Amino acid sequence: MRPKDRVFKKIVILTGAGISAESGIPTFRDPGGLWEKYRLEDVATPEGFRRQPEMVHAFYNQRRRDLLKVKPNPAHYALARLEREYPGQVLVVTQNVDDLHERAGTKNILHMHGELLKVRCEECGHVFREEGDVSVKTPCPKCGRPGGLRPHVVWFGELPFHLPEIEMALKQADLFVAIGTSGTVYPAAGFVVIARRSGAYCVELNLEPSAVAEYFHEHRYGPASKIVPLFVEELLKNAKDF
Ligand code: OAD
Repeated sequence: MRPKDRVFKKIVILTGAGISAESGIPTFRDPGGLWEKYRLEDVATPEGFRRQPEMVHAFYNQRRRDLLKVKPNPAHYALARLEREYPGQVLVVTQNVDDLHERAGTKNILHMHGELLKVRCEECGHVFREEGDVSVKTPCPKCGRPGGLRPHVVWFGELPFHLPEIEMALKQADLFVAIGTSGTVYPAAGFVVIARRSGAYCVELNLEPSAVAEYFHEHRYGPASKIVPLFVEELLKNAKDF
């Protein structure tokens, strides 16, 4: 059954680095991606942070500065429009730590890998918004202790956020869409299987087939800024005509 044949009650959209690529944020695994320049073990694991906290802070400080210079692209705006105008529920589950979905207007969103503009105190658990630089000397604004702050992002070996809520949404979804993700990092890469088993129609929107492409009913390949607005337009038109 193709999307044009029906109106969906519950849509879950999984996004990955590919949706923000055209805003100027490098992806992880494409040529020139972050994992070509940095060792994942150094900057994206708790062990790496324990070994070289200043270097890891410097890496995230730079990513935070870079994020503040970029803007959402038409793919982010299209998803915000879908949430505003679609007659069914729309939930965005993002692996991205940027805030471009929110800046485009998306409200119903879960950041499963955390948020770059948030910092957490490992001493007292306080999570707060931070646009500036952080170091091993920065004191926690709540408990006042220095040395306990870390980026509020999920590192390899840590459990992603919001998993029970995401799993429930996937099981109730009748449309699952994955956008701009390589399908190589679990558990997100397995979401299509959960959604499909529960009866959702599954669509992949990406530059190229992902590692889990075979589990989707339908595929559309191209740059997110082009294919996402077209797909959203189609969903909205079908809902109106239905
Ligand atoms: P990847 O870098 O693994 O994959 C990005 C995907 O986006 C690839 O399949 C590209 O083909 C596609 N892509 C690139 N440019 C695109 C464009 N303009 N339009 C559409 N698609 C495009 O990024 P993720 O799948 O998001 O985790 O990576 C998943 C996780 O791995 C990240 O959240 C991060 C990383 O390690 C953590 O840090 C925990």
